[in-house]
Amino acid sequence: MSAYVIAGGRALDGSVQIHGAKNSVLPILAACLLAPGACVIQNCPRLSDVEASLAILRHLGCRAERQGEAVVVDASAPTRFDVPDRLMREMRSSVIFLGAILGRMGQARLCAPGGCELGPRPIDLHLAAIRALGGTVEEQGGSLFCQGQLQGADIVLSLPSVGATENAMLAAVCAQGTTTITNAAREPEIVDLQGFLQALGANVRGAGSSVITVEGGTPLHGGSYRVMGDRIVAATYLTAVAAAGGSVEVTGVDWRTLSTVTAVLKEAGCQVTSGADRIFLRTEGPLKGVRPVRTAPYPGFPTDAQAPLMAALAGGTGCTVFVENMFESRYRHVDELIRMGADIRVEGRVAVVYGVSRLHGAPVMATDLRGGAALVVAALGAEGSSTVTGLHHIDRGYQSLEYDLQCLGASIRRV
Ligand code: EPZ
Repeated sequence: MSAYVIAGGRALDGSVQIHGAKNSVLPILAACLLAPGACVIQNCPRLSDVEASLAILRHLGCRAERQGEAVVVDASAPTRFDVPDRLMREMRSSVIFLGAILGRMGQARLCAPGGCELGPRPIDLHLAAIRALGGTVEEQGGSLFCQGQLQGADIVLSLPSVGATENAMLAAVCAQGTTTITNAAREPEIVDLQGFLQALGANVRGAGSSVITVEGGTPLHGGSYRVMGDRIVAATYLTAVAAAGGSVEVTGVDWRTLSTVTAVLKEAGCQVTSGADRIFLRTEGPLKGVRPVRTAPYPGFPTDAQAPLMAALAGGTGCTVFVENMFESRYRHVDELIRMGADIRVEGRVAVVYGVSRLHGAPVMATDLRGGAALVVAALGAEGSSTVTGLHHIDRGYQSLEYDLQCLGASIRRV
């Protein structure tokens, strides 16, 4: 099992080009299934979750191949409607294929996604949206079988679920008639998905607001689209430099998509300036404690940035309260940070972080994607050497973490 060996305590300096957004490209790859032609996805990151999605598309009978920084998918003649159990287990978010398969094939079979490292990951809202569009859902021995010719409907989500919004959009594109999705998630990745669907000829509008309208049934065609920069990866590099000291310019990301994160880093004492597609951060001494950080649906503070920010603040001064409102168990990185000398108390959804001025290196283990990235952030700011195992979690969402950090002057190597 590979590991990172990190010698911390060195200030970082330089520039990083941010790769395409994982949480945008995954639903866009599923959406390729809707088009009876070739789709070119530009700025497609090299991630294990992307590879898993390409494997699902090939299993369904599509051509899917990488061409440099792009991926080409041709869903002219899909032949299957099931997602293999091993691929479902490999990538929990492959539930995002449900709406696209059902919409294109009239039926879909996938194994019920269990939980993941973040706790139970229910899909009741996804299934409610499918039913609202006239699809039937049957539980067949641990797998779900959906079928039906979809009709436009008014869907109301009881909470603004990102995945449920995306599944509803993809299914609605193939439904006959008009669909509205109320209480839709407003994440930038939803806006990116709308842009891709429009490139295929779909009539979708309202993404980024709480009400999305889809005029379904229009004929679709192949298209080309450039994926947005990954705001969580950008946030990770900013918190890494905030933790280690120094300065960094991240490019290829829209600063507005992570403005809640940069606002907290400014409050913690960093100098932050933003341009059209870039953000510059310089630390001015140890990080200070900040007002309570409450994770929330966009445009609130992103749950995916909670762990990296906590790692940076744990090695600062002052006290910060975190409230994790999005997932039940998204504090699994806390025990590992405590092994590095952090002083953090967790009570349910609340974590209280008392900055200890400087963490110390230690052997730690990643247990989920962003928790793993947080351990790297902590190790960069810590005094001494750390090893981070469980890199398969990190490889799901970071294309070239060690290379990018080495370019910033970090002592990090994969062994
Ligand atoms: C997406 O997950 C992201 N994943 C997550 O990023 C991100 O943390 C999350 O949105 C919140 O922003 C992808 O886009 C691939 P949700 P998703 O449905 O769609 C509950 C990362 O690190 N819920 O908005 O699964 C759910 O349990 C990953 O990149 C239901 O109860 O998130 C959770 O508590 C981690 N029923 C809350 O809603 C449902 O049917 C938010 O989940 C669906 C969700």
